[in-house]
Amino acid sequence: MFSIKLEYSERYKRLPTYIFVEIEQLLSEKRKKGVDIIPLGIGDPDIPTPNLIINELIDQVKKPENHQYPSSMGEEDFREGVANWYKTRFHVDLDPKEEISNIIGGKEGVANIARAFVNPGDIVLCPNPGYPVYENGATKLCDAYPHSMPLLKENDFLPDLDIIDTKILKKAKLMYLNYPNNPTGAIAPKEYLKKVVDYAQDYNFFIVHDNPYSEFTFDDYIAPSILQIDQNHVEINSASKMFNMTGFRCGWIAGNKEIIQGIRKIKSQIDSGCPTFIQRAVLKGLNEYNSQKKPEIVEKTVKIYEKRRDTMIKGLNNIGWLTNTPQATFYVWIQIPDKYLNKGCMNFVKSLIEVGVVLTPGIGFGQYGEGFVRIALTQSEHRIKEAIERIDKVIN
Ligand SMILES: Cc1ncc(COP(=O)(O)O)c(C=O)c1O
Repeated sequence: MFSIKLEYSERYKRLPTYIFVEIEQLLSEKRKKGVDIIPLGIGDPDIPTPNLIINELIDQVKKPENHQYPSSMGEEDFREGVANWYKTRFHVDLDPKEEISNIIGGKEGVANIARAFVNPGDIVLCPNPGYPVYENGATKLCDAYPHSMPLLKENDFLPDLDIIDTKILKKAKLMYLNYPNNPTGAIAPKEYLKKVVDYAQDYNFFIVHDNPYSEFTFDDYIAPSILQIDQNHVEINSASKMFNMTGFRCGWIAGNKEIIQGIRKIKSQIDSGCPTFIQRAVLKGLNEYNSQKKPEIVEKTVKIYEKRRDTMIKGLNNIGWLTNTPQATFYVWIQIPDKYLNKGCMNFVKSLIEVGVVLTPGIGFGQYGEGFVRIALTQSEHRIKEAIERIDKVIN
C-alpha cells in the first residue's frame, strides 16, 4: 500500500490544464461510433521525410561510431553544417565552435534557453496567441512571469511594442518572437525586426527568434533570419518542418556566443544529445542548400502546401467564410463566423467535431486567440475539399 502523500510543486501547479483533453475525449467517442475524422488540428506534416535523408540515416545508423553517446551541443560536423547553411541561406557568418548548439528539436531549445538566463520573478515577453511553450515550458517552469504581447489582426499580428509599459520592458530578460508565425501565419517585415532589435538594445533584453517555418514560404517570399539584422540575439530552427522530420527530434540554436554558452551548459546537465546518426541525416538535408533558393527536397513539400493553401482559401471563400491568404507556414488563422463569436471558439470547434472536422481553437494559444481557429494544411487537397463541404453544413 502506497502511503506517501504526494504534493505537486508550486511550479507544476502553475502549468495550465491541457485544453485539448475535452476535444480528445469527444474525438474518441466519435471514432468509436465510426465517424470519419478529418484532422486539421495538429501542426504535424503528413508528408514523409525525403528519401535522400532516410537513406543517409540508414547508412549512418549502421556505423558503430554513431551508436555511442552524442555530444549534447551537437557533433562538430553537424555544427559546421548549420554554419554553412546560415552562410548559404542568409549570408550570415557563424563560428560553429562557439555560436551554434544542437537541440533536441526546437521545443527543447525554447524551454532550456530560459533556464540559463531567467530568474524567479523575472519577466519574459511572449507573443499571444503563441506557441504555448514560451509561456509554460520556458517561463513558468523558471518561476518567472510571462508578459503577453497581443498579436492582433489590426497590427498584422505583430506585437505593438510601443504600448508595452517601459517598467515591463526594463524588467524583461528575454523576448520570444516567431515569424513566420504559428498560429497566425503572419510574416514580419525586416523593418519590424529592426525595430524589435532596437527595443532590445534600449531595454537590455535579448531576443530568441523561433524560426521553424523559415522554409515554408510561398509566392516568392523569402523569410529572413534575425541574425541578418543583429547577431547579439539567437535563433532557433529545426529539421521538423523543413524536412518533415517532427519525429526525429533534431534542431539547432545559433547566434550570440554567450547565450549559446548558457544553453550548452544547461543541456550538458540535462540531456545527452540528439543521436549522432540523426544529426548526420539532417546534415545531409542541410547540405542540399547551394543557394538562398530552396533545394528540391524542400521545394517539393512547399509546393504541396501552397496548393493545399489555395484549395483551402478558395473553398472557404466559396462558402462565405473569408480570410486572407497566408504567405507562410502551413496554417490558416481565421476568425470564427459571427454567429459563434458569443459562444467562443471552443464551442465552434465542438460543432465541427460533430461533422468529423478537427480544427484547433485559438484559445489554445492564449487569451488573445479567442475568436479564432487554426486550420493546419496537413491533409490532402481531396480531404480539404471534403472538410469544406462538411464545414459548409455547419456554418451555413
Ligand atoms: C512556433 C514553434 N516553435 C517550435 C516548435 C517545435 O518544433 P520542434 O520541437 O519539432 O522543432 C513548433 C512546433 O510546432 C512551433 O510551431
